Amino acid sequence: MSCMMPVSESVHRPPQLLLAPMQGLVDDVMRTILTEIGGFDGCVTEFVRITHTIHGRQTWLKYMPEIKNQNKTPSGTPVAIQLLGSDADNMVQNALYAVNLGINHIDLNFGCPAPTVNQHQGGAILLREPKRIEHIVSTIRQHLPAHIFLSAKMRLGYEHKDLALDCARAIENGGAQQLTVHARTKIEGYQPPAHWEWIRRIREIVALPLVANGDVFSLDDYQRIRQISQCDDVMLGRGAVMMPDLARQIAAFNRHECIEVMPWSEVVLWLEKFLLLCSNKNAASKYPSARLKQWLAMLKQHYPEAEVLFNLLRTLTTITDIQYTLQKYIATL
Ligand SMILES: Cc1cc2nc3c(=O)[nH]c(=O)nc-3n(C[C@H](O)[C@H](O)[C@H](O)COP(=O)(O)O)c2cc1C
Repeated sequence: MSCMMPVSESVHRPPQLLLAPMQGLVDDVMRTILTEIGGFDGCVTEFVRITHTIHGRQTWLKYMPEIKNQNKTPSGTPVAIQLLGSDADNMVQNALYAVNLGINHIDLNFGCPAPTVNQHQGGAILLREPKRIEHIVSTIRQHLPAHIFLSAKMRLGYEHKDLALDCARAIENGGAQQLTVHARTKIEGYQPPAHWEWIRRIREIVALPLVANGDVFSLDDYQRIRQISQCDDVMLGRGAVMMPDLARQIAAFNRHECIEVMPWSEVVLWLEKFLLLCSNKNAASKYPSARLKQWLAMLKQHYPEAEVLFNLLRTLTTITDIQYTLQKYIATL
C-alpha cells in the first residue's frame, strides 16, 4: 500500500471526497452502503430528467429518499439531487418544488452522453453551447433561495475540447458555487485516459471550487489526479463501487494514517447488507438479485473471489435462494 504524505492541502478545509452520481448503479441503497463504509464528504443522486412536467413528491422521494433524513444518508453524509434538462424555466419550477420538499443542494448535469438525453437537448450536447449553459445556470440561480447550494458537473466537451474553458466560465458566470469536471468529452465515453491536465487548465481560469473526476481507481490515482489537476477535491465513481473502501483509504491517507485494505471476508458482509436493503426496498421484483449481481460483476475487477461468488449466484433468482447461498458461502470463509 502506498502511504506517502498528501500533496498540498488547502489551509481552509480538508480536501473533499465525493461519491459520483451513477444512474442505474448508485441509488440510495448503494449510497447507504458506500457512505457507511466511510470516507465520503458528499454524494449526488442519479440524474432526474426534466422535460415538460413538474415532478411530484413521489418522484423526488424515489430518487432521493434521503430527503426524509435531512438530505443525508443514514450514516450522515450529505446528498445533492442532480437535475438534467435544458428548459431553464421548467428546471426552475422543478428545482423550487424540490426545495419545498426540503432539498438544499441542487447539481446540474452537463455531461450525460446518452443518445436519448442528447437528442432532447440535455446533458453533454449542451457543451456545444456555452451561452445556453450560462442561461440555464443563471436562471436557476436567480430563482433559488440564496441558501440553496447550486453546483454543476460537466465533461470537457461534446466531440472536442475547444469549448471546455468557455463552458466552465459559463457555469461560473451563471452563479454555480462548485463545478465537477469529468475529464473527457462525450465522444471519448469512458475510454482511458481521462485528461486530468484539462482540469488544471480550467482551474487556471475559474475561481469557483473545482472537483476533479475521472479514472481514480486507487490511492495512487488519487494522488496523481490531485497533482496534475491541482484540485484538492475529487469525485470517485466506478472505483468506489469496485473497491468499496477506496474512499476510506483516501480519507485515512489525508489524515496521514495508513489502514489495511478491506479483505474479501468483509466485503461479503457488506454484500449481505446490500441484498437485505435491496429486498426491503423492493422484494417483489428482480431488483435485489439484479443489483447484487451487478455489484459483484464490478467487484470482480478488484477481487478475484467475486467471480466465484458471482458464478454461484448467477442462475438464482429468488431472494431466499440467493440469501441462503450467500450465507452458506460466508460460512466457508
Ligand atoms: C453507470 C454510470 C452512470 C452514470 N450516471 C451519471 C449521472 O447520472 N450523472 C452524472 O453526472 N454522471 C453520471 N455518470 C458519470 C460519473 O458520475 C463519472 O463522471 C464518470 O463515471 C467518471 O468517473 P469514474 O472514472 O470515477 O467512474 C455515470 C457513469 C456511469 C459509469
